[in-house]
Amino acid sequence: FKKLKGGLLSPVPSTQEFKEAASFDVNKDESTVSITVVGASGDLAKKKIFPALFALYYEGCLPKHFTIFGYARSKMTDAELRNMVSKTLTCRIDKRENCGEKMDQFLKRCFYHSGQYDSLENFAELDKKLKEHEGGRVSNRLFYLSIPPNIFIDAVKCTSSSASSSIGWTRVIVEKPFGRDSDSSAALTKALKQYLEEDQIFRIDHYLGKELVENLSVLRFSNLIFEPLWSRRYIRNVQLIFSEDFGTEGRGGYFDNYGIIRDIMQNHLLQILALFAMETPVSLDAEDIRNEKVKVLRSMRPLQLEDVVVGQYNSHTKGGVTYPAYIDDSTVPKGSLTPTFAAAALFIDNARWDGVPFLMKAGKALHKKRAEIRVQFRHVPGSLYNQDFGNDLDLATNELVIRVQPDEAIDLKINNKVPGLGMRLDRSNLNLLYAARYSKEIPDAYERLLLDAIEGERRLFIRSDELDAAWALFTPVLKELEEKNVIPEYYPYGSRGPVGAHYLAARYNVRWG
Ligand code: NDP
Ligand code: BG6
Repeated sequence: FKKLKGGLLSPVPSTQEFKEAASFDVNKDESTVSITVVGASGDLAKKKIFPALFALYYEGCLPKHFTIFGYARSKMTDAELRNMVSKTLTCRIDKRENCGEKMDQFLKRCFYHSGQYDSLENFAELDKKLKEHEGGRVSNRLFYLSIPPNIFIDAVKCTSSSASSSIGWTRVIVEKPFGRDSDSSAALTKALKQYLEEDQIFRIDHYLGKELVENLSVLRFSNLIFEPLWSRRYIRNVQLIFSEDFGTEGRGGYFDNYGIIRDIMQNHLLQILALFAMETPVSLDAEDIRNEKVKVLRSMRPLQLEDVVVGQYNSHTKGGVTYPAYIDDSTVPKGSLTPTFAAAALFIDNARWDGVPFLMKAGKALHKKRAEIRVQFRHVPGSLYNQDFGNDLDLATNELVIRVQPDEAIDLKINNKVPGLGMRLDRSNLNLLYAARYSKEIPDAYERLLLDAIEGERRLFIRSDELDAAWALFTPVLKELEEKNVIPEYYPYGSRGPVGAHYLAARYNVRWG
């Protein structure tokens, strides 16, 4: 039982753990992995999931025996699925190499089955087809639910009742949104657990699969120069910034029901914050890391209404082109108050972070696309050189910028003397630009996460107690915003967002980076 999760501390292994142990013990060449993309006709499947699976195949990361099935209601033949998928596959990994042959080999392993999401019979038909491809080997099955949330439970029920593996493992990747608030999220978790064990559920937050987010722990825990500074003693504030230079065009129907706080802050930015602020985990084991993340989330103060600014983009004409307002989208209800921008100040009430503002900012239709973590350090005590920066003391402090995208980079802003005979100070960047340092392209987040799910690595997936803690922080303020019909501050499409975000930051002596 050495390989069972939890080892000796886990006295009664679950059925799933028995199955995992069984599949470990057989010769890997004799087992097979079947990956079913449920909702294969949809946007995410085409844009992200099939290309990520191809990239894994190209890199030789998929097992020897694997089959990919698309499942959705749309009628399609295998050939039509392959044709659809082939349009979004690119040879991004090595542009010099002609990977047409690899693409053909990959597509030959893709199949399609059309069915309803609530039909046990249709999933049983899928099961039959999967078995034919598995050819009597130990079958491990991964289902990726790339469908709208209102049909998650039907699909999970059918998967587990009619199409789960009888001898290997069965895992289910669930896409966000995981509910709209604490209650709906708890109801979703309860319903999922009727059919699956927690360790079969892989709740995906694709930001955890981004290279620079994964690198956060390496930066902190493998460099002596950072970890000792990582506390209220030396850090003045931390900023988590997400912005996109396009609106919700085409996704307004989904977005209007959620808004930017649920779409970006409660998940992507909060996950980054938890990794940034957690204590050193006992090990790199998934449970040890997730335990530390939960602790930090549970030490946070629920967000207060006065610490939130919401905005919504308006139409704007620039260079003869008119960019639409959020409410111009035909799928958005007239007069919608849904925020497309939010800024918030959050606090962690523990010994390490007491009093340090963690400022989040997320918005659609802003002036540029970026995702960044900015760490502003305190002033150097005493005034030996501070006067050289005049009144702008902010310039005299160090800042660490972790640019998640685009152009992944780590920048450390330091002060140095301008060369020459005088004594003038300047501010410079110690800069690690990934594109200059590494010639290999960075894998897409979905590649890493799919591979982890196939390998049973849960470190980058969200556990149910993490999810509960995350919702507990945001649910009260979301309720208050909606009950009070708080009017968002309007900002022009393509601008830097509402000015209110600056007042909020100023209240905590912070200037946005
Ligand atoms: P889609 O709206 O494209 O839906 C996927 C498929 O589900 C559709 O092709 C359709 O297939 C089926 N479907 C759609 N609406 C319904 C319905 N009301 N009832 C039954 N079946 C329906 O979704 P996406 O591909 O954009 O997203 C899939 C999941 O991933 C969602 O949970 C979304 O929130 C999440 N997500 C998406 C992102 C994106 O960039 N698109 C980013 C992050 C998360 P058919 O009609 O053939 O059955
Ligand atoms: C998704 C959100 O989770 O993340 C989208 O639903 C957003 O609104 C997207 O556009 C951003 O992801 P990325 O990887 O393009 O930054």
